[in-house]
Amino acid sequence: MQLTVLAKRAFPNFKTRLAIRRAVYFPMDVLDLLTGKHDPLVPPRGLWFVGGGHFRDNQFLSSFTHLCDLQPHHRVLDVGCGVGKQAVPLTQYLSPKGSYEGFDIVQEGVQWCEQQITSRYPNFKFRHVDVFNKHYNPDGSMLPSEWKFPYSDSEFDFVCLISVFTHMLPDAVQNYVSEISRVLKPGAKSFISSFLLNDESRRLIAQGKSAIPLTHDLDGYTVLDPEFPETTVGLPEHFVRRCFEGSGLGISAVHYGSWCGRNGANFYQDIVLSVRK
Ligand SMILES: C[S@@+](CC[C@H](N)C(=O)[O-])C[C@H]1O[C@@H](n2cnc3c(N)ncnc32)[C@H](O)[C@@H]1O
Repeated sequence: MQLTVLAKRAFPNFKTRLAIRRAVYFPMDVLDLLTGKHDPLVPPRGLWFVGGGHFRDNQFLSSFTHLCDLQPHHRVLDVGCGVGKQAVPLTQYLSPKGSYEGFDIVQEGVQWCEQQITSRYPNFKFRHVDVFNKHYNPDGSMLPSEWKFPYSDSEFDFVCLISVFTHMLPDAVQNYVSEISRVLKPGAKSFISSFLLNDESRRLIAQGKSAIPLTHDLDGYTVLDPEFPETTVGLPEHFVRRCFEGSGLGISAVHYGSWCGRNGANFYQDIVLSVRK
């Protein structure tokens, strides 16, 4: 059984797991402060509930500019912004004419972003939303399959969503894709990652080559842990394509990732690039 699955069995509540993480990393975080290694735009390790810590040199900014033509004056939405891993590099790219909005369902991450990023870059705004997710926000009061983004139609030039659909179930993904389409300007682009199930990834998973054994089939999609499905989710590629096309997002490219043991991939997760029709 994977460590993440075991941790959830022992501590089902995300806030408890986060409190333990903060306590475990507290000595290292204090040492960073005392030795001057602390970078105000890198969250303390105790808040890295979003995976590894490449906050300054994260690979995605160059992909946003090269693959999606992101410009410094653009208005950007970061869906599931976590603790600022995409926002921090964007502070060095977006000009004062550009702007950034991020939202997430984990309050602690949003609070850190507001304190450390908005205070230095007022054109970067963060919002906590109380949307349910059994892994991250089990007491959330709103359903991800129904909740509407708090932004106007056609407000954004670019939307990114990194490693969020990997924690959402199909009906929620369908709603979010439709909302992303609604808030994008016509012709504007999105960069969205997920674990796509197709013949190749299913074969590699069955052969035991995938880093993530998405072997539990729940009505067409697959999960790591059926008791906590949102821990890690794989979505059928044909379902994702249908959601995009049905919502007015034309898929311009799919970059298949290495997560399932695929060779020669440029990204870890699968990346879907799309253009608002
Ligand atoms: C693996 S982290 C990735 C965070 C961030 N995108 C990054 O690149 O570091 C997954 C994030 O998705 C957020 N999340 C999960 N379900 C969500 C939802 N329905 N709406 C918004 N954020 C959500 C979690 O709170 C968490 O911060």
